[in-house]
Amino acid sequence: MDAKTAVLLDGKAVAEKIHTELQQRIQTLQTQGKRPPGLAVLMVGDNPASAAYVRNKERACAKVGIASLGKNFPGSATQAELEAAICELNEDERVDAILVQLPLPNHLDAVAALNKIDPNKDGDGLHPLNMGRLLRSEVGLRSCTPAGVMRVLEEYQIDVKGKQAVVIGRSILVGKPMALMLLEANATVTIAHSRTQDLAALTRSADILVAAIGRPLAITAEMVKPGAVVIDVGINSIVDDTTGKNRLVGDVDFEQVKQVAGYITPVPGGIGPMTVAILLQNTVDSYCKKMA
Ligand SMILES: NC(=O)c1ccc[n+]([C@@H]2O[C@H](COP(=O)([O-])OP(=O)(O)OC[C@H]3O[C@@H](n4cnc5c(N)ncnc54)[C@H](OP(=O)(O)O)[C@@H]3O)[C@@H](O)[C@H]2O)c1
Repeated sequence: MDAKTAVLLDGKAVAEKIHTELQQRIQTLQTQGKRPPGLAVLMVGDNPASAAYVRNKERACAKVGIASLGKNFPGSATQAELEAAICELNEDERVDAILVQLPLPNHLDAVAALNKIDPNKDGDGLHPLNMGRLLRSEVGLRSCTPAGVMRVLEEYQIDVKGKQAVVIGRSILVGKPMALMLLEANATVTIAHSRTQDLAALTRSADILVAAIGRPLAITAEMVKPGAVVIDVGINSIVDDTTGKNRLVGDVDFEQVKQVAGYITPVPGGIGPMTVAILLQNTVDSYCKKMA
């Protein structure tokens, strides 16, 4: 290995491993005559990025043997229609996990919709009860993206205990649960956000740096401590200068930062596939809990 290049944290490979484990678990259950686990993804409108994420999830479900029981609503769907569908799925015996694909169109209240999901079917771990369980380090369904980050760290045997971790971003979807999971694993955690002063000084202190900002290539090599673990959660579409076509990049300037970091996740192929894998794992865990 080139001593100057970081070890690649291959989220895609770890996600494949999780898919294989889940596929085997589901095959065993089906040989016992049990129904397949079921996941319902609810999507409103036709946002192309969201549609691509939903297709990915459905493809992954088909691969491992999870039934996709989701529903697509037109962009004009009302809050009442969305919430009625959630309530129906809460009662549906075939459904083990429900996920509302975010963002929702502006006229809909995402928090109110998420709060309607049965906490035992909360695919993305965003219900206040599951968030509270995380805050108290109790067992519960965990938010997929940060749980995916933790699983990658585990797979590469990166010890988090006692390390300085800096999470950039404080969203309820990523930043906050990420910080809580790192804290649960005994890291010393700082959360940065848009009002943080001297972000670079802070990020340079990080042994583990998680970027969940939504700003393409915002983290440069000068902002990273040599040897640090750099996790790039960001997914941003930019126009490529040479081809003129859209391409996906993270929040981290991968080409530059890999010369400084000890470990780094790519985009695509890093945390994105892990998010889907953990969603499937949450679905199967919720199924097994129900069947037990
Ligand atoms: N890999 C995956 O599977 C996955 C899953 C979910 C999201 N994502 C991606 O992750 C990124 C973040 O998603 P999100 O839902 O957390 O986004 P979000 O809700 O927009 O939150 C972004 C966070 O970044 C902070 N921020 C913005 N500009 C900043 C700056 N200049 N310096 C420091 N902090 C800054 C914001 O601070 P304030 O709170 O002060 O505004 C906010 O807390 C997006 O690119 C999204 O597409 C990826």
